[in-house]
Amino acid sequence: MLRERFAGGSGPDPAFDALNRSLPVDRRLVTEDLAGSRAHVRMLAACGVIAPEERDALLAGLDQVEAIAREKGIPDDPKVEDVHLWVERTLAEVAGAVAGKLHTARSRNDQVALDLRLALRKFVGEARAGIRELLQALAGQARGNLALVLPLYTHLQRAQPVLLGHHLLAHAEALRRDAARMKDLLRHADVCPLGAGAGAGTTYPTRPELTSQDLVFSEPLRNSIDAVSDRDFVLEFAAAATLLCVHLSRLGEEIVLWTAPEFGFARLPDAWSSGSSIMPQKRNPDAAELCRASAGRTLGRFVALATAVKGLPLSYNKDLQESTAVLLETGDTLRQVLPAMAGMIAGITWDSARMRAAVEDPRSFVLATDLADHLVRRGVAFRVAHGQVANLVTWAEGARKGLGDLSLDEIRKHCPQAGEDAKSALSVEGALAARASRGGTAPARVAQALAALEAELAAGGP
Ligand code: ARG
Repeated sequence: MLRERFAGGSGPDPAFDALNRSLPVDRRLVTEDLAGSRAHVRMLAACGVIAPEERDALLAGLDQVEAIAREKGIPDDPKVEDVHLWVERTLAEVAGAVAGKLHTARSRNDQVALDLRLALRKFVGEARAGIRELLQALAGQARGNLALVLPLYTHLQRAQPVLLGHHLLAHAEALRRDAARMKDLLRHADVCPLGAGAGAGTTYPTRPELTSQDLVFSEPLRNSIDAVSDRDFVLEFAAAATLLCVHLSRLGEEIVLWTAPEFGFARLPDAWSSGSSIMPQKRNPDAAELCRASAGRTLGRFVALATAVKGLPLSYNKDLQESTAVLLETGDTLRQVLPAMAGMIAGITWDSARMRAAVEDPRSFVLATDLADHLVRRGVAFRVAHGQVANLVTWAEGARKGLGDLSLDEIRKHCPQAGEDAKSALSVEGALAARASRGGTAPARVAQALAALEAELAAGGP
């Protein structure tokens, strides 16, 4: 800790120190911190604030610091408050007195704001790559199982037949939005905060545009107070990650349902199943469950930081230190769940007979809408047709028959306008093909949508 100001350089109360020190968390930002320091040193020299020899000595020293961090790691030294002070202190050890010039025209306040933005770029890049890998797995399953059909569920009640590929591509749409959100939020963090100092700017003839270009930002800071106060980008990342995990959770929930014997549509490979410590027969979908649970964790972090930030006066307040853990842990969660979900999806095998049976189960009545549509084509108003078929279904349930089991005469008892071809309206393949509307489940539409996703992925993906 920097304690020069206090009587006899006395140390902080141990309990305060334990609360305040961030080194155990922010040492993971050392690469970003060093990148920022190098850019800062180059800028100081370009502006004549430090001499070229000082620049060279500092840059050589920072390389040594990087080597130490890489080879020995950064120990949790109780005498060091955070990663910024660890770098400065280690630099002094390897480079001597010139290290004292590194912090000219800079504050840890603009430094940490920079480090977080640089780390965000890395995590967003990883998240997008992870989403693409999952999209590949979904596309692969759709491609490999083009003809499989299952019931579409609404309210978890069997509704209408759909192609498995159509269902998987629905998850892909949500994930495409997640990838787009990740890309978009990076734009909001694309402002280099260096040059804000503690929050009011610097008294040196610095040129923030140089550090901004050096670190590949679109523009340097526009307001020094905002530069050190803003953590929107961490919140946006946490929010986007939450939504992504919500989508993984819904997918995970379907894996849990579909692998349960009550559905029996899907089977996870051994590598993605776990046994029970007591019940020898179990094949549990733990990974799918943990992906489902991840939404709670990511949301919790968003809520924690939003709550910490919401009452803060400008500019920097120590509460903002919480952002580091939120960013890092959110990134860590995505590193776990995205590859897991991609691996599970890629490894699923399908029980096409069970899926088909759920569609053809006489109690499913998944072709009831198709019979109503048949009546509409014969001039019956949809609402009337709906009522007639509803009565027919009630009657068939009582007779313990499915729609396919009924004779034309039985159908006509409730649906007098049913045509000679009414029974042929009651085929699963016919029902699929008939839904050829844009975005529908007709095989031709699904093939189109799958090809579009494959082309998008081949071109680098969303
Ligand atoms: N460890 C601090 C953080 O992560 C660095 C900034 C400290 N600034 C200060 N004025 N104490 O936020």
